Amino acid sequence: RGASGLAQDLIGRRIVISAGGTREPLDPVRYLGNRSTGKQGFALARTALARGAQVTLVAANTDLPVPAGADVVRVGTALQLREAMVKAAADADAVVMAAAVADFRPAVYRAGKIKKKDGQEPDPVRLTRNPDILAEISAERAREGQVVVGFAAETDDVLANGRAKLARKRCDLLVVNEVGEKKTFGSADNEAVVLGADGSETPVPYGPKESLADTVWDLVATRLQRGPE
Ligand code: CTP
Ligand code: CA
Repeated sequence: RGASGLAQDLIGRRIVISAGGTREPLDPVRYLGNRSTGKQGFALARTALARGAQVTLVAANTDLPVPAGADVVRVGTALQLREAMVKAAADADAVVMAAAVADFRPAVYRAGKIKKKDGQEPDPVRLTRNPDILAEISAERAREGQVVVGFAAETDDVLANGRAKLARKRCDLLVVNEVGEKKTFGSADNEAVVLGADGSETPVPYGPKESLADTVWDLVATRLQRGPE
């Protein structure tokens, strides 16, 4: 145990974490975005550092203090996030996608500011799909035994949706949050269940994002110790 009192079970491990939310520009002054603040991803980075890991934090549009000792790569859009993640994942032991990635981006970017015209309806905004970064990293597994973790915010049948998503993304662990009006976004606290590809189900009681982060690292450390199947 280190000075922090936490197990130093991630010493020498290279870990890549995405945090925040992507912004997809429409024109030089406007974008499509989401409400993710990056708090969960930053909590993951702080706790991994405390447990001895080497951390690369790919931060999309966050306004949070940089955790001491982390390598921070700043990105804006989903395409930039993908490039940074794929590059960093190349020699990572574990990859955690905590960022909220826009599913779509405007099909065209207007180099000039979009202007309104008197008496005219606005043009509809045509969208196009962004690549699925988590699915891509899971499929590629840049290193043997690399552990890949996703996050999902769900409503309605939360667990069934989570199981289906875990299978679709082919990651090792999926942290599923139930979202509602006052839950999760911008909040310091979280409640979740972590689903494992091995069928495991680890509930995390409502509490600070740090405790959820520590549960994620417990599960990742176990899988790293187990080694590739
Ligand atoms: N994700 C990703 N690339 C995308 C979309 C999502 O890497 N283009 C990642 C997120 O970072 C997260 C996980 O996939 O770790 C689940 O995101 P979510 O939005 O719940 O999944 P989607 O497949 O986009 O499903 P939905 O239609 O429910 O939004
Ligand atoms: Ca999505």
